[in-house]
Amino acid sequence: MKGLILSGGKGTRLRPLTHSLPKQLVSVANKPIIYYVVENLLEAGIEDIGVIIAPETGEEIKRSLLEGGFQRVKFTFILQEEPLGLAHAVKTASRFLGDEDFVMYLGDNLIGSGIKDFVEEFRRTAPSALILLKEVENPHLFGVAELGEGGRILRLVEKPRVPPSNLALVGVYLFSPEIHRAIDRIKPSWRGELEITDAIQELINMGLEVRAHILQRWWLDTGKKDDMLEANRVVLDQLQETILLGDVDENSSIKGRVVVEEGARIIGSKIRGPAVIGKNTVVENSFIGPYTSIGKGCSIRNSCVEYSVILPETEILDVERMEESLVGRRASIRKGSEVNRALKVMIGDDSSLEI
Ligand code: TTP
Repeated sequence: MKGLILSGGKGTRLRPLTHSLPKQLVSVANKPIIYYVVENLLEAGIEDIGVIIAPETGEEIKRSLLEGGFQRVKFTFILQEEPLGLAHAVKTASRFLGDEDFVMYLGDNLIGSGIKDFVEEFRRTAPSALILLKEVENPHLFGVAELGEGGRILRLVEKPRVPPSNLALVGVYLFSPEIHRAIDRIKPSWRGELEITDAIQELINMGLEVRAHILQRWWLDTGKKDDMLEANRVVLDQLQETILLGDVDENSSIKGRVVVEEGARIIGSKIRGPAVIGKNTVVENSFIGPYTSIGKGCSIRNSCVEYSVILPETEILDVERMEESLVGRRASIRKGSEVNRALKVMIGDDSSLEI
């Protein structure tokens, strides 16, 4: 069985970060989201992995995965010239996939469990497709499945006004090669994309068996800022213990589960976990509150940061209170002078600032 990770796309909802950084490489608890995806595939015994990449961001994804220490994995990078839909991505990968079964996994989705059981169920029951579903509170925002007897899917509807169930499609799918025939039979949707939900519906229309597997643990799609912060919260919550690889001076205190990575220095500061402080980052005279991930090479001084994700090499200076923030790489945030309280900024396109 092969794996296919989808990490093309445009990531418009996460601009401006995604102008320079693909969303699959944004870190949650200081680890790129796509690494969690690869780890889940590996744990299910899948080592032959194709990765769909976009022209703008593909090289960075490639570099990051090849440097990620995944020795057992054989990666094949597949360029999708334009993000013309999830089914289009499968079509683009058809040479790599050949006539093998495969797991298709969206590179920006995180789930709270492995996929081993899911893969075993597919092997045991041998349907044409096995789709991971999750109960959600707002099904009208998702692709939703209507289930029949014994876990069979009867129908799929995209963002229904009147949802037939509260079971949404999570971004993990198991397919037999029959999916290629179904994709050949569908047309682009109103938004010009070849939709995977249409292809799966086509499998059902062709009389083939499409089954559901309901995920009991959490599922997060990290498409927007708040989802990203929530993903960071959930993953940090799973930290088991405090690991101090960096230096914590005697004027600092660490409470709760905290990881201080190598070369990091905590000076006269309070860290309240769950939190992660990246490699070679300096936290001085500051408070880092729960559910915060500070990337590597950052400098946080005289500031208070809580419930936030700060990406590498960013500087935060004299900021009284910062929360619910997602800050990109090499950013600089500092308090202006007390005399002239004007706001001075240099922020990129599509940025958002709440003051
Ligand atoms: P989406 O989040 O649906 O799309 P997007 O990444 O373009 O984001 P936005 O809506 O903010 O513009 O995509 C889900 C995943 O699938 C994501 O990891 C990107 C990937 N993808 C492809 O690889 N090819 C595609 O054609 C599309 C649409 C998505």
